[in-house]
Amino acid sequence: MRFYLTTAIDYVNSRPHLGTAYEKITADVIARYKRLSGVETHFLMGNDEHSQNVYKRALERNMDPRAYCDQMEREFRAVWAQLDISFDDFIRTTEPRHKAAVQKLARQCFNQGDIYEGQYEGWYCVSCEAFKQEKDLLEGKCPLHPTLTPEWIREKNYFFRLSKYREPLLEHFRSNPRFLRPENRRNEMLRLLESGLEDISVSRAGQLWGIPLPFAPDNVVYVWFDALINYAAAIGYGSDEPRFAKWWPADLHIVGKDITRFHTVVWPAMLMSAGLALPAQVFGHGWVNFGGQRMSKSLGTSLDPADVAQRFGADPLRLYLVKEISYGGDGDFTWDRYEERYNVDLANNLGNLVSRLSAMAEKFRASRLAPAGAGGRLAQVAGASLARYRTSMDTLALHEGVAAAFEIVDAANEFIAETAPWSLAKKGEAARLDEVLFEVAEAVRVAAVLLRPVMPASSAEILHRVGETTTPDALRLDTDGRWRSEGVRQIAKRPALWPRVESGTPIHESDTRINVEADVQTRPRSESIVDEKPAAGAAAPAAPAAPAAPARITIDDFMKVELRVAKVLEAEAVPKSKKLLKLRVDTGADQRTIVAGIAEAYQPEQLVGRTIVIVANLQPAKLMGVESNGMVLAASPDGGLPTLIGVDPALPPGARVR
Ligand code: MSP
Repeated sequence: MRFYLTTAIDYVNSRPHLGTAYEKITADVIARYKRLSGVETHFLMGNDEHSQNVYKRALERNMDPRAYCDQMEREFRAVWAQLDISFDDFIRTTEPRHKAAVQKLARQCFNQGDIYEGQYEGWYCVSCEAFKQEKDLLEGKCPLHPTLTPEWIREKNYFFRLSKYREPLLEHFRSNPRFLRPENRRNEMLRLLESGLEDISVSRAGQLWGIPLPFAPDNVVYVWFDALINYAAAIGYGSDEPRFAKWWPADLHIVGKDITRFHTVVWPAMLMSAGLALPAQVFGHGWVNFGGQRMSKSLGTSLDPADVAQRFGADPLRLYLVKEISYGGDGDFTWDRYEERYNVDLANNLGNLVSRLSAMAEKFRASRLAPAGAGGRLAQVAGASLARYRTSMDTLALHEGVAAAFEIVDAANEFIAETAPWSLAKKGEAARLDEVLFEVAEAVRVAAVLLRPVMPASSAEILHRVGETTTPDALRLDTDGRWRSEGVRQIAKRPALWPRVESGTPIHESDTRINVEADVQTRPRSESIVDEKPAAGAAAPAAPAAPAAPARITIDDFMKVELRVAKVLEAEAVPKSKKLLKLRVDTGADQRTIVAGIAEAYQPEQLVGRTIVIVANLQPAKLMGVESNGMVLAASPDGGLPTLIGVDPALPPGARVR
């Protein structure tokens, strides 16, 4: 069994925003679920580079377009790495393998008589990279890009006979009800097909940036005709036919709702014309809005996923997007809602469950849980949740899949409240206590296996804490997702996974300190997590000890520290140091070197282009022989890795932080 999965390839005229990241995260969850299910999976992503906007942006920056695309590739890859996206291949449309495929497919369509010369006259929205009919415009503007004016184009073009494929497409839609999901998008596309199709222009005249048409090299291939072919190009069409034969047709294209027409009408018609099989399924996901508004660079309402991931890490963001948005529908991101869900799902629920289990295991059984009993209520809940999880994930109801995993977490927290292990210990009911603790540990283990696709790093950490010895990548749902009644569990006690946050504070004050160089000493704190008097049915959050009141400083004291926004220009490892990175930063006033203790948390390439906060007026100091002129601000949970303090990336270097 094999599974070939793709996402849309992104325009590189700007960095990814939370909406484009949403698509990649959900596709990654599907890819990881398939791998967990033992399916040989090939997950493709990439960049769409032959857009006029990309070309313009490069020229605005006085850069060669190719060099500009190289730089953007690094930025995109850094964001995807930060979000833990596990693609197997990343294609760029300027690569030779892509050019070979585009020219081969265009030639096939031409030989088939499906590409002909004509004259195009009409509107073109450069931001959509699409030809628009009068009826598509609202008061003369593209509804998706109301701040821009569409261009009127009159040029000699090559056209693709899309109209010829209306009947075959209708037939394909009717005999393959699952070809386009969800159902509302399928209905929308069926209506469009029923209303008729016009031929489309597939070339642009007089442009330098693009792939020449093989039979008319003065014309470049229209960016959409070019881009769609990436899915075939990446697996060898036109360059490695045996590989292409292995992976084509694609099993699933994940794309946004705005581009389902290209993927379910234009692309299948191109494939039919070239005599190739059609993808099994296209899924058109909805929009992620930001505070109720469409996310858009041109409207100034976009959110950088790297900044959001800095808040609590990649996994809480992944969980929020997948669990809170019904897959296929639209969703919204607000910081308040994000914090609320973080506190509810992670700090209070899953994180607290793991902390309580490890604290009880340590206190009552020296962290070693021997098998005891076949599992009671939690075993039943886990079995039912696994079944629901599978059905949901197989039908791409990702939000329901995650909810099924959380049913186990909820049930385990309730089980602890009801069985009150601390009273069993007090009453000396040792056998029952063994059963209860083992049952909770096993429930946590199963939940962590099910959560692996959505929260890969946290799942691995939890599995380690509950004594799972299989390496995370070798986990299989069939075996590891099932209840186990055997095997001693060595439970590890470590700091809280997700300290609770109060609204507006970066992370809970007693768990985290904003620090300089991020490798500062940790502060001891009480880890009393065994809740002896839990509220009925509720998972009480961990209760950290109140920190000793520190001496207060005056505002004048604070203002002596000059905190400023800076942009990272270059980053590299400091030789022979595990912790230190050497950064070259733009402070607005100058460019300088800062040495920061963040190497265990960040790869140098993740930092380039990042907007950070520095202490600008610190005396220079030498660290491992390198002079550091300032300090980088980062937050470190006790014993955890540092997270850089983020600010709006639109802030210019030099802006004062106070
Ligand atoms: N380059 C084309 C796709 C070519 S695929 C052969 C493109 N690029 S894009 O950068 O504009 O968008 C990339 C993907 O992100 C698309 O699937 C698009 O629908 C999706 N999204 C863009 N904004 C989004 C949200 N606000 N929310 C969710 N997805 C969003 O289109």
